[in-house]
Amino acid sequence: MVSHGSEFVVVANRLPVDRVVGEDGTASWRRSPGGLVSAIAPVMRRRHGTWIGWAGAPDEELEPFEDDGMSLWPVMQTAQDVELYYEGFSNATLWPLYHDVVAPPVYSREMWDAYVRVNERFADAAAEVAAERAVVWVQDYQLQLVPAMLRRRRPDLRIGFFLHIPFPPLELFWQLPWRRQILEGLLGADLVGFQLPGAAANFVRLCRRLLDARHFRQDVLWEERVVRARSFPISVDVGELKSLIAQPTVRERAEEIRADLGAPTILLGVDRLDYTKGIAQRLQAFGELFEDGHLKPGQAVFVQIATPSRERVEQYQLLRDQIEQQVGRINGDYGELGFPVVHYLHTSYDRAELAALYLAADVMVVTPLRDGMNLVAKEYVACRDDLRGALVLSEFAGAAAELKRAFQVNPYDIDGLKSTMLAAMNADPAEQARRMRAMRKRVLEHDVDRWAHDFLSALEQPQRVG
Ligand code: ADP
Ligand code: G6P
Repeated sequence: MVSHGSEFVVVANRLPVDRVVGEDGTASWRRSPGGLVSAIAPVMRRRHGTWIGWAGAPDEELEPFEDDGMSLWPVMQTAQDVELYYEGFSNATLWPLYHDVVAPPVYSREMWDAYVRVNERFADAAAEVAAERAVVWVQDYQLQLVPAMLRRRRPDLRIGFFLHIPFPPLELFWQLPWRRQILEGLLGADLVGFQLPGAAANFVRLCRRLLDARHFRQDVLWEERVVRARSFPISVDVGELKSLIAQPTVRERAEEIRADLGAPTILLGVDRLDYTKGIAQRLQAFGELFEDGHLKPGQAVFVQIATPSRERVEQYQLLRDQIEQQVGRINGDYGELGFPVVHYLHTSYDRAELAALYLAADVMVVTPLRDGMNLVAKEYVACRDDLRGALVLSEFAGAAAELKRAFQVNPYDIDGLKSTMLAAMNADPAEQARRMRAMRKRVLEHDVDRWAHDFLSALEQPQRVG
Protein backbone atom coordinates (compact mmCIF):
# COMPACT_ATOMS: atom_id res chain seq x y z
CA MET A 1 0.00 0.00 0.00
CA VAL A 2 1.24 3.52 -0.80
CA SER A 3 1.54 5.52 2.38
CA HIS A 4 2.60 8.84 3.73
CA GLY A 5 5.98 8.69 5.38
CA SER A 6 8.14 7.37 2.53
CA GLU A 7 11.88 7.31 3.24
CA PHE A 8 12.74 7.65 -0.46
CA VAL A 9 10.71 9.73 -2.87
CA VAL A 10 11.20 10.42 -6.57
CA VAL A 11 9.42 13.42 -8.05
CA ALA A 12 9.15 13.56 -11.85
CA ASN A 13 6.68 15.20 -14.21
CA ARG A 14 5.59 11.79 -15.45
CA LEU A 15 4.79 8.56 -13.72
CA PRO A 16 6.37 5.49 -15.37
CA VAL A 17 2.97 4.54 -16.77
CA ASP A 18 0.41 6.55 -18.72
CA ARG A 19 -3.30 6.04 -18.23
CA VAL A 20 -5.01 5.48 -21.58
CA VAL A 21 -8.75 5.23 -22.00
CA GLY A 22 -9.86 3.14 -24.98
CA GLU A 23 -12.83 3.83 -27.27
CA ASP A 24 -15.00 1.50 -25.18
CA GLY A 25 -14.21 3.58 -22.08
CA THR A 26 -11.99 1.02 -20.38
CA ALA A 27 -8.78 2.35 -18.88
CA SER A 28 -5.40 0.66 -19.09
CA TRP A 29 -1.79 1.56 -18.34
CA ARG A 30 1.01 1.90 -20.86
CA ARG A 31 4.74 2.54 -20.30
CA SER A 32 5.50 6.26 -20.56
CA PRO A 33 7.90 7.39 -23.33
CA GLY A 34 11.45 8.62 -22.94
CA GLY A 35 14.80 8.06 -21.29
CA LEU A 36 13.86 9.32 -17.82
CA VAL A 37 11.37 6.51 -17.31
CA SER A 38 13.75 3.91 -18.83
CA ALA A 39 16.38 4.89 -16.25
CA ILE A 40 14.39 5.63 -13.10
CA ALA A 41 11.89 2.74 -13.26
CA PRO A 42 14.44 -0.04 -12.65
CA VAL A 43 16.00 1.98 -9.84
CA MET A 44 12.61 2.47 -8.18
CA ARG A 45 11.65 -1.17 -8.54
CA ARG A 46 14.75 -2.10 -6.57
CA ARG A 47 14.64 0.67 -3.94
CA HIS A 48 10.95 0.60 -3.05
CA GLY A 49 10.32 4.31 -2.75
CA THR A 50 7.31 6.38 -3.80
CA TRP A 51 7.17 7.97 -7.27
CA ILE A 52 5.22 11.21 -7.52
CA GLY A 53 4.15 12.21 -11.04
CA TRP A 54 1.45 12.86 -13.60
CA ALA A 55 -0.45 9.99 -15.22
CA GLY A 56 -0.35 11.59 -18.68
CA ALA A 57 -3.99 12.61 -19.18
CA PRO A 58 -5.63 15.94 -18.23
CA ASP A 59 -8.13 16.51 -15.41
CA GLU A 60 -7.80 13.09 -13.78
CA GLU A 61 -7.78 12.84 -10.00
CA LEU A 62 -6.35 9.40 -9.23
CA GLU A 63 -5.69 7.66 -5.94
CA PRO A 64 -2.17 6.41 -5.13
CA PHE A 65 -1.61 2.87 -6.42
CA GLU A 66 0.97 0.11 -6.90
CA ASP A 67 2.31 -0.94 -10.29
CA ASP A 68 5.08 -3.36 -11.21
CA GLY A 69 6.61 -3.22 -7.72
CA MET A 70 6.48 0.58 -7.52
CA SER A 71 4.35 2.87 -5.31
CA LEU A 72 2.90 5.59 -7.50
CA TRP A 73 1.42 8.88 -6.28
CA PRO A 74 -0.45 10.72 -9.07
CA VAL A 75 -0.46 14.51 -9.31
CA MET A 76 -3.31 16.05 -11.29
CA GLN A 77 -2.85 18.45 -14.20
CA THR A 78 -5.80 20.32 -15.67
CA ALA A 79 -6.14 20.72 -19.42
CA GLN A 80 -4.89 24.28 -18.97
CA ASP A 81 -1.84 23.10 -16.99
CA VAL A 82 -1.04 20.62 -19.73
CA GLU A 83 -1.23 23.35 -22.34
CA LEU A 84 0.69 26.05 -20.47
CA TYR A 85 3.02 24.19 -18.09
CA TYR A 86 3.76 20.92 -19.95
CA GLU A 87 3.40 21.74 -23.65
CA GLY A 88 4.15 25.41 -23.00
CA PHE A 89 6.89 26.36 -20.57
CA SER A 90 8.45 22.89 -20.31
CA ASN A 91 8.41 21.90 -23.96
CA ALA A 92 8.12 25.10 -25.97
CA THR A 93 10.43 27.22 -23.76
CA LEU A 94 12.90 25.17 -21.71
CA TRP A 95 13.33 22.18 -24.03
CA PRO A 96 14.47 24.21 -27.07
CA LEU A 97 16.45 26.71 -24.96
CA TYR A 98 18.40 23.95 -23.20
CA HIS A 99 19.02 22.13 -26.51
CA ASP A 100 21.09 24.89 -28.13
CA VAL A 101 17.95 26.74 -29.36
CA VAL A 102 17.68 24.26 -32.27
CA ALA A 103 14.08 25.55 -32.39
CA PRO A 104 13.10 29.04 -31.24
CA PRO A 105 11.98 29.10 -27.58
CA VAL A 106 8.63 30.73 -26.76
CA TYR A 107 8.72 33.24 -23.90
CA SER A 108 5.25 33.68 -22.42
CA ARG A 109 4.36 35.08 -19.00
CA GLU A 110 1.19 33.02 -18.90
CA MET A 111 3.22 29.85 -19.42
CA TRP A 112 5.67 30.89 -16.71
CA ASP A 113 2.82 31.44 -14.24
CA ALA A 114 1.54 27.93 -14.97
CA TYR A 115 5.06 26.52 -14.48
CA VAL A 116 5.23 28.11 -11.01
CA ARG A 117 1.72 26.89 -10.15
CA VAL A 118 2.33 23.28 -11.17
CA ASN A 119 5.76 23.19 -9.51
CA GLU A 120 4.02 24.29 -6.27
CA ARG A 121 1.62 21.37 -6.63
CA PHE A 122 4.47 18.87 -6.99
CA ALA A 123 6.24 20.43 -3.98
CA ASP A 124 3.03 20.08 -1.93
CA ALA A 125 2.75 16.40 -2.87
CA ALA A 126 6.40 15.70 -1.99
CA ALA A 127 6.03 17.54 1.35
CA GLU A 128 3.03 15.36 2.12
CA VAL A 129 4.55 12.01 1.13
CA ALA A 130 8.10 12.27 2.52
CA ALA A 131 8.92 10.90 5.98
CA GLU A 132 10.93 12.94 8.48
CA ARG A 133 14.46 13.48 7.05
CA ALA A 134 13.64 11.42 3.96
CA VAL A 135 15.61 11.59 0.72
CA VAL A 136 13.68 13.30 -2.09
CA TRP A 137 15.04 13.11 -5.61
CA VAL A 138 13.55 15.65 -8.02
CA GLN A 139 13.92 14.95 -11.75
CA ASP A 140 14.39 17.09 -14.80
CA TYR A 141 13.65 20.45 -16.39
CA GLN A 142 9.87 20.44 -15.79
CA LEU A 143 10.43 20.71 -12.01
CA GLN A 144 13.37 23.07 -11.49
CA LEU A 145 11.52 25.19 -8.92
CA VAL A 146 10.56 22.22 -6.75
CA PRO A 147 13.83 21.96 -4.74
CA ALA A 148 13.51 25.48 -3.24
CA MET A 149 9.73 25.20 -2.83
CA LEU A 150 10.12 21.90 -1.03
CA ARG A 151 12.91 23.15 1.23
CA ARG A 152 10.64 26.00 2.35
CA ARG A 153 7.96 23.48 3.28
CA ARG A 154 10.23 20.77 4.67
CA PRO A 155 13.71 21.96 5.73
CA ASP A 156 14.34 18.54 7.34
CA LEU A 157 14.57 16.73 3.98
CA ARG A 158 17.64 15.83 1.97
CA ILE A 159 16.89 17.05 -1.52
CA GLY A 160 18.62 15.99 -4.73
CA PHE A 161 17.94 17.21 -8.24
CA PHE A 162 19.01 15.59 -11.51
CA LEU A 163 18.76 17.25 -14.92
CA HIS A 164 18.39 14.66 -17.70
CA ILE A 165 18.87 17.14 -20.52
CA PRO A 166 21.79 19.49 -21.30
CA PHE A 167 22.29 22.61 -19.18
CA PRO A 168 23.03 25.51 -21.53
CA PRO A 169 25.97 27.88 -21.47
CA LEU A 170 25.53 31.33 -19.94
CA GLU A 171 25.19 32.97 -23.37
CA LEU A 172 21.95 31.02 -24.03
CA PHE A 173 20.52 30.76 -20.52
CA TRP A 174 20.78 34.55 -20.25
CA GLN A 175 17.86 34.88 -22.70
CA LEU A 176 15.40 33.45 -20.20
CA PRO A 177 13.28 36.19 -18.60
CA TRP A 178 12.96 34.05 -15.44
CA ARG A 179 16.64 33.05 -15.26
CA ARG A 180 17.10 34.09 -11.62
CA GLN A 181 14.06 32.19 -10.41
CA ILE A 182 15.20 28.98 -12.12
CA LEU A 183 18.66 29.13 -10.55
CA GLU A 184 17.20 29.92 -7.14
CA GLY A 185 14.80 27.01 -7.53
CA LEU A 186 17.65 24.58 -8.24
CA LEU A 187 19.71 25.94 -5.36
CA GLY A 188 17.07 24.60 -2.98
CA ALA A 189 18.71 21.17 -3.50
CA ASP A 190 21.70 19.82 -1.56
CA LEU A 191 23.08 18.21 -4.70
CA VAL A 192 22.36 19.25 -8.29
CA GLY A 193 23.33 16.55 -10.78
CA PHE A 194 24.03 16.94 -14.49
CA GLN A 195 24.94 14.52 -17.27
CA LEU A 196 28.33 16.10 -18.06
CA PRO A 197 30.98 18.12 -16.19
CA GLY A 198 30.52 21.01 -18.64
CA ALA A 199 26.87 21.38 -17.63
CA ALA A 200 27.79 21.51 -13.93
CA ALA A 201 30.40 24.16 -14.78
CA ASN A 202 27.78 26.18 -16.71
CA PHE A 203 25.52 26.10 -13.68
CA VAL A 204 28.20 27.23 -11.22
CA ARG A 205 29.30 30.02 -13.56
CA LEU A 206 25.70 31.22 -13.83
CA CYS A 207 25.25 31.21 -10.06
CA ARG A 208 28.31 33.40 -9.78
CA ARG A 209 27.45 35.81 -12.59
CA LEU A 210 23.71 36.06 -12.11
CA LEU A 211 23.27 35.68 -8.37
CA ASP A 212 26.67 36.81 -7.22
CA ALA A 213 26.88 33.56 -5.26
CA ARG A 214 30.22 32.58 -3.73
CA HIS A 215 31.58 29.24 -4.78
CA PHE A 216 34.52 26.96 -4.18
CA ARG A 217 35.16 24.84 -7.26
CA GLN A 218 31.77 23.19 -7.87
CA ASP A 219 30.29 23.96 -4.46
CA VAL A 220 28.03 26.99 -4.36
CA LEU A 221 27.36 28.79 -1.08
CA TRP A 222 23.74 29.79 -0.94
CA GLU A 223 21.64 30.91 2.01
CA GLU A 224 24.20 29.52 4.43
CA ARG A 225 24.15 26.11 2.81
CA VAL A 226 26.52 24.33 0.48
CA VAL A 227 24.94 23.27 -2.79
CA ARG A 228 27.06 20.80 -4.70
CA ALA A 229 26.97 20.67 -8.52
CA ARG A 230 28.33 17.44 -9.99
CA SER A 231 28.08 15.26 -13.09
CA PHE A 232 26.61 11.75 -13.10
CA PRO A 233 26.29 10.32 -16.62
CA ILE A 234 23.09 8.30 -16.70
CA SER A 235 22.95 4.78 -18.13
CA VAL A 236 20.84 1.76 -18.99
CA ASP A 237 19.49 -1.28 -17.16
CA VAL A 238 22.10 -3.75 -18.37
CA GLY A 239 20.50 -6.66 -16.46
CA GLU A 240 17.14 -6.16 -18.17
CA LEU A 241 18.71 -5.96 -21.64
CA LYS A 242 20.90 -9.02 -20.98
CA SER A 243 17.89 -11.09 -20.00
CA LEU A 244 15.95 -9.89 -23.05
CA ILE A 245 18.66 -10.86 -25.54
CA ALA A 246 19.03 -14.23 -23.83
CA GLN A 247 15.44 -15.10 -24.73
CA PRO A 248 15.21 -17.44 -27.74
CA THR A 249 12.07 -15.62 -28.91
CA VAL A 250 14.01 -12.34 -29.11
CA ARG A 251 16.85 -14.00 -31.08
CA GLU A 252 14.32 -15.61 -33.43
CA ARG A 253 12.51 -12.31 -33.89
CA ALA A 254 15.82 -10.64 -34.83
CA GLU A 255 16.37 -13.30 -37.52
CA GLU A 256 12.83 -12.83 -38.73
CA ILE A 257 13.30 -9.04 -39.03
CA ARG A 258 16.47 -9.58 -41.06
CA ALA A 259 14.74 -12.06 -43.34
CA ASP A 260 11.68 -9.81 -43.81
CA LEU A 261 13.78 -6.81 -44.75
CA GLY A 262 15.65 -8.87 -47.30
CA ALA A 263 18.64 -6.52 -47.49
CA PRO A 264 22.27 -7.16 -46.78
CA THR A 265 22.70 -4.05 -44.61
CA ILE A 266 20.18 -2.75 -42.07
CA LEU A 267 20.55 0.72 -40.61
CA LEU A 268 18.38 1.60 -37.61
CA GLY A 269 17.17 4.76 -35.89
CA VAL A 270 15.08 4.63 -32.68
CA ASP A 271 13.94 7.93 -31.22
CA ARG A 272 11.07 9.93 -29.87
CA LEU A 273 9.93 12.01 -32.84
CA ASP A 274 11.79 15.10 -31.64
CA TYR A 275 13.54 17.89 -33.58
CA THR A 276 16.63 17.54 -31.38
CA LYS A 277 17.30 14.00 -32.65
CA GLY A 278 18.66 14.86 -36.11
CA ILE A 279 16.33 12.44 -37.90
CA ALA A 280 16.05 14.64 -41.00
CA GLN A 281 19.87 14.91 -41.28
CA ARG A 282 20.40 11.14 -41.13
CA LEU A 283 17.66 10.49 -43.71
CA GLN A 284 19.06 13.13 -46.00
CA ALA A 285 22.51 11.55 -45.80
CA PHE A 286 21.05 8.09 -46.46
CA GLY A 287 19.05 9.34 -49.47
CA GLU A 288 22.10 11.05 -50.93
CA LEU A 289 24.11 7.83 -50.76
CA PHE A 290 21.65 6.42 -53.32
CA GLU A 291 21.66 9.60 -55.36
CA ASP A 292 25.47 9.53 -55.57
CA GLY A 293 25.50 5.84 -56.48
CA HIS A 294 27.33 4.74 -53.30
CA LEU A 295 24.34 2.56 -52.51
CA LYS A 296 21.99 0.67 -54.83
CA PRO A 297 18.39 -0.21 -53.92
CA GLY A 298 18.47 -3.69 -52.38
CA GLN A 299 21.87 -3.10 -50.79
CA ALA A 300 20.69 -1.30 -47.67
CA VAL A 301 17.51 -0.30 -45.84
CA PHE A 302 16.95 2.26 -43.13
CA VAL A 303 14.46 1.40 -40.39
CA GLN A 304 13.36 4.50 -38.50
CA ILE A 305 11.21 3.90 -35.43
CA ALA A 306 9.77 7.17 -34.16
CA THR A 307 7.72 7.26 -30.95
CA PRO A 308 4.93 9.84 -31.11
CA SER A 309 5.86 12.69 -28.76
CA ARG A 310 4.38 16.02 -27.62
CA GLU A 311 2.02 15.95 -30.55
CA ARG A 312 0.20 19.17 -29.76
CA VAL A 313 3.35 21.33 -29.69
CA GLU A 314 3.74 23.20 -32.99
CA GLN A 315 7.43 22.39 -33.61
CA TYR A 316 6.65 18.67 -33.24
CA GLN A 317 3.82 18.90 -35.76
CA LEU A 318 6.11 20.68 -38.23
CA LEU A 319 8.78 18.03 -37.71
CA ARG A 320 6.38 15.16 -38.32
CA ASP A 321 5.25 16.68 -41.63
CA GLN A 322 8.86 17.26 -42.66
CA ILE A 323 10.01 13.72 -41.85
CA GLU A 324 7.01 12.05 -43.49
CA GLN A 325 7.51 14.10 -46.64
CA GLN A 326 11.20 13.25 -46.68
CA VAL A 327 10.55 9.51 -46.25
CA GLY A 328 8.00 9.67 -49.07
CA ARG A 329 10.44 11.42 -51.35
CA ILE A 330 13.33 9.01 -50.70
CA ASN A 331 11.12 5.95 -51.21
CA GLY A 332 9.57 7.53 -54.30
CA ASP A 333 13.01 8.10 -55.81
CA TYR A 334 14.88 4.95 -54.77
CA GLY A 335 12.41 2.32 -53.60
CA GLU A 336 11.18 -0.53 -55.75
CA LEU A 337 7.83 -2.30 -55.85
CA GLY A 338 7.53 -4.04 -52.47
CA PHE A 339 10.97 -2.76 -51.38
CA PRO A 340 11.02 0.70 -49.84
CA VAL A 341 14.51 1.86 -48.83
CA VAL A 342 13.22 3.59 -45.69
CA HIS A 343 10.84 1.82 -43.31
CA TYR A 344 9.31 4.51 -41.13
CA LEU A 345 7.17 3.46 -38.15
CA HIS A 346 5.46 6.14 -36.10
CA THR A 347 4.84 4.03 -33.02
CA SER A 348 6.39 2.74 -29.85
CA TYR A 349 7.41 -0.87 -29.29
CA ASP A 350 7.81 -3.09 -26.27
CA ARG A 351 11.27 -3.80 -24.89
CA ALA A 352 11.55 -7.26 -26.45
CA GLU A 353 10.82 -5.95 -29.95
CA LEU A 354 13.34 -3.12 -29.45
CA ALA A 355 15.99 -5.61 -28.32
CA ALA A 356 15.28 -7.73 -31.43
CA LEU A 357 15.66 -4.63 -33.61
CA TYR A 358 19.00 -3.80 -31.96
CA LEU A 359 20.20 -7.35 -32.63
CA ALA A 360 19.06 -7.18 -36.24
CA ALA A 361 20.71 -3.83 -37.03
CA ASP A 362 24.12 -3.70 -38.70
CA VAL A 363 24.44 0.02 -38.10
CA MET A 364 22.71 1.98 -35.34
CA VAL A 365 22.43 5.62 -36.34
CA VAL A 366 22.14 8.08 -33.43
CA THR A 367 22.56 11.65 -34.68
CA PRO A 368 21.08 14.20 -32.26
CA LEU A 369 21.84 17.87 -32.79
CA ARG A 370 22.02 18.03 -29.00
CA ASP A 371 21.12 15.39 -26.40
CA GLY A 372 21.69 15.17 -22.64
CA MET A 373 22.88 11.55 -22.88
CA ASN A 374 20.97 9.34 -25.36
CA LEU A 375 20.14 5.99 -23.88
CA VAL A 376 19.36 4.38 -27.23
CA ALA A 377 23.09 4.44 -28.06
CA LYS A 378 23.93 2.67 -24.79
CA GLU A 379 21.06 0.18 -25.18
CA TYR A 380 22.41 -0.85 -28.59
CA VAL A 381 25.89 -1.40 -27.17
CA ALA A 382 24.53 -3.33 -24.17
CA CYS A 383 22.61 -5.68 -26.50
CA ARG A 384 25.51 -6.50 -28.85
CA ASP A 385 27.13 -9.33 -26.89
CA ASP A 386 28.05 -10.84 -30.27
CA LEU A 387 30.46 -7.87 -30.73
CA ARG A 388 28.90 -7.21 -34.13
CA GLY A 389 27.23 -4.07 -35.38
CA ALA A 390 28.48 -0.48 -35.59
CA LEU A 391 27.31 2.64 -33.80
CA VAL A 392 27.24 5.98 -35.61
CA LEU A 393 27.03 8.59 -32.86
CA SER A 394 26.70 12.35 -32.84
CA GLU A 395 29.41 14.34 -31.11
CA PHE A 396 26.58 16.35 -29.55
CA ALA A 397 25.08 13.47 -27.56
CA GLY A 398 26.23 13.23 -23.94
CA ALA A 399 27.01 9.56 -24.64
CA ALA A 400 29.85 10.61 -27.00
CA ALA A 401 32.01 11.44 -23.95
CA GLU A 402 31.94 7.78 -22.90
CA LEU A 403 31.50 5.93 -26.21
CA LYS A 404 34.71 7.16 -27.77
CA ARG A 405 35.02 4.13 -30.07
CA ALA A 406 31.73 4.84 -31.81
CA PHE A 407 31.85 6.20 -35.36
CA GLN A 408 31.50 9.77 -34.15
CA VAL A 409 30.09 12.43 -36.42
CA ASN A 410 28.92 16.04 -36.61
CA PRO A 411 25.28 15.63 -37.73
CA TYR A 412 25.20 19.11 -39.30
CA ASP A 413 27.88 17.97 -41.75
CA ILE A 414 25.90 15.91 -44.28
CA ASP A 415 28.99 14.85 -46.26
CA GLY A 416 30.63 13.78 -43.00
CA LEU A 417 27.51 11.83 -42.08
CA LYS A 418 27.52 10.06 -45.45
CA SER A 419 31.14 9.03 -45.24
CA THR A 420 30.76 7.96 -41.59
CA MET A 421 27.68 5.87 -42.37
CA LEU A 422 29.56 4.22 -45.23
CA ALA A 423 32.61 3.59 -43.03
CA ALA A 424 30.36 2.00 -40.38
CA MET A 425 28.65 -0.19 -43.00
CA ASN A 426 31.97 -1.30 -44.47
CA ALA A 427 33.91 -1.86 -41.22
CA ASP A 428 35.23 -5.41 -41.11
CA PRO A 429 34.14 -7.72 -38.29
CA ALA A 430 37.47 -7.46 -36.45
CA GLU A 431 37.26 -3.68 -36.44
CA GLN A 432 33.62 -3.79 -35.31
CA ALA A 433 34.52 -6.16 -32.49
CA ARG A 434 37.39 -3.96 -31.27
CA ARG A 435 35.14 -0.93 -31.11
CA MET A 436 32.19 -2.77 -29.61
CA ARG A 437 34.33 -4.42 -26.93
CA ALA A 438 35.65 -1.05 -25.74
CA MET A 439 32.18 0.49 -25.69
CA ARG A 440 30.65 -2.50 -23.90
CA LYS A 441 33.28 -2.35 -21.20
CA ARG A 442 32.21 1.20 -20.40
CA VAL A 443 28.45 0.57 -20.50
CA LEU A 444 28.54 -2.72 -18.60
CA GLU A 445 30.68 -1.24 -15.84
CA HIS A 446 28.59 1.94 -15.59
CA ASP A 447 24.98 0.84 -15.68
CA VAL A 448 21.95 2.62 -14.28
CA ASP A 449 22.29 1.05 -10.83
CA ARG A 450 25.78 2.44 -10.51
CA TRP A 451 24.51 5.86 -11.64
CA ALA A 452 21.77 5.88 -8.99
CA HIS A 453 24.16 4.59 -6.35
CA ASP A 454 26.74 7.29 -7.18
CA PHE A 455 24.14 10.05 -7.06
CA LEU A 456 22.42 8.89 -3.89
CA SER A 457 25.61 8.24 -1.97
CA ALA A 458 26.87 11.72 -2.90
CA LEU A 459 23.52 13.13 -1.74
CA GLU A 460 23.83 11.38 1.60
CA GLN A 461 27.39 12.59 2.26
CA PRO A 462 27.59 15.37 4.82
CA GLN A 463 27.97 18.83 3.28
CA ARG A 464 31.46 20.19 3.42
CA VAL A 465 33.01 22.83 1.21
CA GLY A 466 35.60 21.46 -1.23
P1 ADP B 1 14.82 10.69 -24.80
O1 ADP B 1 14.90 10.56 -23.32
O2 ADP B 1 15.09 12.07 -25.30
O3 ADP B 1 13.57 10.14 -25.39
P2 ADP B 1 16.85 8.57 -24.86
O4 ADP B 1 17.54 7.96 -26.04
O5 ADP B 1 17.75 8.94 -23.75
O6 ADP B 1 16.01 9.83 -25.41
O7 ADP B 1 15.77 7.56 -24.28
C1 ADP B 1 14.74 7.05 -25.07
C2 ADP B 1 14.19 5.81 -24.40
O8 ADP B 1 12.93 5.51 -25.00
C3 ADP B 1 15.06 4.60 -24.59
O9 ADP B 1 15.03 3.78 -23.43
C4 ADP B 1 14.43 3.88 -25.77
O10 ADP B 1 14.57 2.48 -25.74
C5 ADP B 1 12.97 4.24 -25.62
N1 ADP B 1 12.35 4.36 -26.95
C6 ADP B 1 12.68 5.22 -27.93
N2 ADP B 1 11.91 5.01 -29.03
C7 ADP B 1 11.09 3.99 -28.73
C8 ADP B 1 10.06 3.30 -29.43
N3 ADP B 1 9.70 3.62 -30.68
N4 ADP B 1 9.41 2.32 -28.79
C9 ADP B 1 9.74 2.01 -27.51
N5 ADP B 1 10.69 2.61 -26.81
C10 ADP B 1 11.37 3.59 -27.40
C1 G6P C 1 13.05 13.13 -22.10
C2 G6P C 1 12.95 14.04 -20.89
C3 G6P C 1 11.95 13.46 -19.90
C4 G6P C 1 10.63 13.18 -20.58
C5 G6P C 1 10.84 12.31 -21.81
C6 G6P C 1 9.56 12.06 -22.58
O1 G6P C 1 13.59 11.94 -21.67
O2 G6P C 1 14.24 14.22 -20.30
O3 G6P C 1 11.76 14.34 -18.81
O4 G6P C 1 9.73 12.57 -19.70
O5 G6P C 1 11.77 12.92 -22.67
O6 G6P C 1 8.92 13.24 -22.87
P1 G6P C 1 7.44 13.56 -22.39
O7 G6P C 1 7.24 15.00 -22.75
O8 G6P C 1 6.59 12.63 -23.17
O9 G6P C 1 7.37 13.31 -20.92
